[in-house]
Amino acid sequence: MSRTTIRTLYDKYERGEPLTMLTAYDAPIARQVDAGGVDLILVGDSAGHNHMGYDDTLPVTMEDLLARTASVVRATEEAMIVGDLPFLSYGTDLASSVENAGRFLKEAGADAVKLETAPGGDTTIEIVDRCTELGIPIQGHIGLTPQRMNELGGPVIQGREGAESSFGDELVDTAQRLEAAGIFSLVLEGVTEPVAKRISEAVDVPTIGIGAGRYVDGQVLVTNDVLGLGAEGYKLSKQYADLDSIVRGAVEEYVEEVETGAFPTAENTYEPIDEE
Ligand code: KIV
Repeated sequence: MSRTTIRTLYDKYERGEPLTMLTAYDAPIARQVDAGGVDLILVGDSAGHNHMGYDDTLPVTMEDLLARTASVVRATEEAMIVGDLPFLSYGTDLASSVENAGRFLKEAGADAVKLETAPGGDTTIEIVDRCTELGIPIQGHIGLTPQRMNELGGPVIQGREGAESSFGDELVDTAQRLEAAGIFSLVLEGVTEPVAKRISEAVDVPTIGIGAGRYVDGQVLVTNDVLGLGAEGYKLSKQYADLDSIVRGAVEEYVEEVETGAFPTAENTYEPIDEE
């Protein structure tokens, strides 16, 4: 099979089939996520806390994500690979924003790029417009946008005021302006289900929810949470495996076997080649 393209994504969307997206930050996990059949893999700036040991996404750099995106591209064959523009790699000026978006395609081999937009965010909407005109496919991201965590006052679910509130109106308007600027899909993070439903009905691009409920066109989760790998057990997520226990158990067994002399055995050793 060949890689998922925007055209094949839209075929699925038009058939009303839910789209699937997961994160990956390295080759071994990306290989399994791809083989498992997701449509899109996001090399997200959530690498900051899930992969790099930071408290949040803010310290993550372009170089951090370009290297990880290239690893994920090399390890996969079918999923569409989306690189994530990290905090302040875009928005300070148009030229460097577009250049940085383009680096994911030129240097890392990604198929598309995601960036976060604040409600009403004129700056990022202009960047999306320029990128899509130049041929850089952009995935939008609105709602609870983690790069603005300090501004938002923490990981607060957005749109609690109700779908028909002025905040709901503003999110719908932002989604429609992003659509007009050319996004091919839109991540809705941490918004109430009625708000996500209203946005999904208001745009003709696939919406992909995380903590956005059921009435969206697809779902995305952080793979560490799905696998139970350093997972924090969020209400919005679902853990399908417990890799922390499996990894810890294997390491403890290895330590015990080395300390007791059970490993290595004769089977793990090499004999010299007999000289005639
Ligand atoms: O960086 C990330 O993993 C994300 C997803 C949570 C959508 O932006």
